[in-house]
Amino acid sequence: MSENNVPPVSSKLKNPIPLTYWEFICSFFNEIISSPINLALVAIIAWLVYKIFQNKPKQEEPAQVIKELAKIKRDFTLEELKEYNGTGPDGRILVAVNGNVYDVTKGANFYGPDGPYAALGGRDASRCLATFSIDLGKDEYDDLSDLNTEDMNSIIEWEEQFKESYDYVGKLLQPGDAHTNYSDEEEEGSQQENESKIKKE
Ligand code: HEM
Repeated sequence: MSENNVPPVSSKLKNPIPLTYWEFICSFFNEIISSPINLALVAIIAWLVYKIFQNKPKQEEPAQVIKELAKIKRDFTLEELKEYNGTGPDGRILVAVNGNVYDVTKGANFYGPDGPYAALGGRDASRCLATFSIDLGKDEYDDLSDLNTEDMNSIIEWEEQFKESYDYVGKLLQPGDAHTNYSDEEEEGSQQENESKIKKE
């Protein structure tokens, strides 16, 4: 083929004429409406953007309200404790550590039904905390007698944290233990030295 047979290169491609802003917008718009696929893509993108902004919480919305429940003072058996896992009518959550029961309702983000430690709500968390495991094991009273000193020290440290953050409610009762009648005792300032199962040395 001779050089003369080569088709001439379009002058448009050789020297592209710069588009004005409006020409660019118009050509972009024409490009979109010329193809049903492009139209469908634009519709999908618009729908997604709408959904994202629709689900975004409004800034004026108040922060999550943490329930303030009346303080309680009583002992619990394991069975009684189970009812307080945050799914009850008042949403109260109790957790037992080292033989003592704490009201952890204000930590509902942790122990509530949707929290990472929901399994501990309404339960004796001592063994889980000692072994750093969410596996609750058997459903009976746990005397923790098989734990070693390191595990027990860990439980004591965890209980210190619970004491600092949460209200003490009462004792976790062993089978056969009687409920203490606290009505005779002073209700306020009940964050007294609790009778822990494992004592600090
Ligand atoms: C990879 C594993 C884990 C990570 C990354 C993790 C992370 C955390 C974080 C960031 C906090 C909050 C600390 C704070 O704000 O003061 C926390 C608290 C806590 N974690 Fe874990 N954790 C893990 C495993 C566990 C396990 C297995 C247990 C169960 C025995 C556990 C029990 C707790 C408890 C009881 C609290 C205190 C919550 C409260 O303030 O009442 N964690 N954890």
